Amino acid sequence: MQTGRDAPKVGALAEIAKVASTCTLCRLANGRTNVVFGMGNPAADLMFVGEGPGEQEDRQGLPFVGRSGQLLDRLVLEEMGLTRQDFYIANTVKCRPPGNRDPLPDEIEACSPYLEKQLELVNPRVVVTLGNFATKLLLATTDGISRLRGRAYPYRGGQLVPTFHPAAALRGGGQVVAQMRADLVRAKEILGAARSGRAQKS
Ligand code: URA
Repeated sequence: MQTGRDAPKVGALAEIAKVASTCTLCRLANGRTNVVFGMGNPAADLMFVGEGPGEQEDRQGLPFVGRSGQLLDRLVLEEMGLTRQDFYIANTVKCRPPGNRDPLPDEIEACSPYLEKQLELVNPRVVVTLGNFATKLLLATTDGISRLRGRAYPYRGGQLVPTFHPAAALRGGGQVVAQMRADLVRAKEILGAARSGRAQKS
């Protein structure tokens, strides 16, 4: 739930979104329609980090509004009982790579201060990374998602749960979806434990 106490972080995020909206730090600025900064509840204890905007996201300026996002929303609702009001969601790169190609290392690096700020301000207890790019960046590893998923990692005083990108689940079918579901359940259990720990303390 968002309260008056969250106003400074909401303001700070809006300030950074404004800076990002005119960003020209990398070549992705040339082809974009909109910068897709992020959306959701800035006071949430759960944050998802994807790869980069696709065509729909570029058009609407919002993350995960295309087919991948619809699948993600469904899985998160079914496995965690949560909707967009319950979490914050952003991408590794904020502008659409042309033709949906992979973001390049220098583009990821140029964009990373925006994600860094979002993580700092939202300060979630659990970060779920969707796919290779977000996972490799945040865990500072070159290992791939198939190897990394299936467990949680300590991250910024909380936990990071890597899972597949929903586009991989759309392509890969039942087994990938089942593994994503299991990862989301893992994230839910960690959140539940963190919340009950906090409730006991106060
Ligand atoms: N894929 C992503 O990684 N992010 C989006 O916002 C949409 C599709």
